[in-house]
Amino acid sequence: MPPVAAGPRDNAVSLASRPCPAWTRPAPPPDDSLPPTMTLETLLAALHITAILTLVVFVSSAAALCRPEWFNGPLLERLARVDMIYGISAVAVLATGLARTVWGMKGMGWYWGGPLLHLKLTLFIVLALVSIKPTLTILSWRRSYRATGALPPADAILRTRKLIMMQAHAIPVIAIVAVFYARGWWH
Ligand code: HEM
Repeated sequence: MPPVAAGPRDNAVSLASRPCPAWTRPAPPPDDSLPPTMTLETLLAALHITAILTLVVFVSSAAALCRPEWFNGPLLERLARVDMIYGISAVAVLATGLARTVWGMKGMGWYWGGPLLHLKLTLFIVLALVSIKPTLTILSWRRSYRATGALPPADAILRTRKLIMMQAHAIPVIAIVAVFYARGWWH
């Protein structure tokens, strides 16, 4: 009987049984626990991503609320609260990002040595500056609503929404810079 040629299934099996060096897990440390620097690195990364996700959720909520079609008093109160949490999460993103440069595994020299962290920080500062006007506007709307019951005109709401949307679109750009930065591009 002539030998049967190996089919794609057999190839898959033989490939799966051959260890691929790039995928091989590094040997665990002798006591089978992660070294403390690795645990801290993981914790800092978790805090940074949690702060970023909170930022994204609250800037998106602010953009969704800030529309003339459904603007009313209780919504304005909620928008002011959402904007405050957005501000707090931005502080958390900055704090956790800076903490990663201080206690992260690659060392402070590496983190501050390349241009991409400076680009990232500059974009973040621009984002923070753009956020000042909407925050002040929303707070002044809330003050006059509480004092007189007056709501802002549609064109003012749309102008504020535009600034909020600009911030929402800047965040993914910063995230893309972050991914290249973490892998040492232009270092
Ligand atoms: C909206 C703002 C920000 C976004 C969306 C963002 C996003 C990210 C993402 C996605 C990563 C993980 C990259 C990866 O491992 O592939 C990261 C890591 C990091 N971020 Fe941010 N970040 C922001 C602000 C900041 C700020 C203000 C700082 C502080 C200076 C900062 C410092 C860092 C550091 C040091 C790392 C670790 C990089 C590494 O492991 O080599 N980030 N960031």
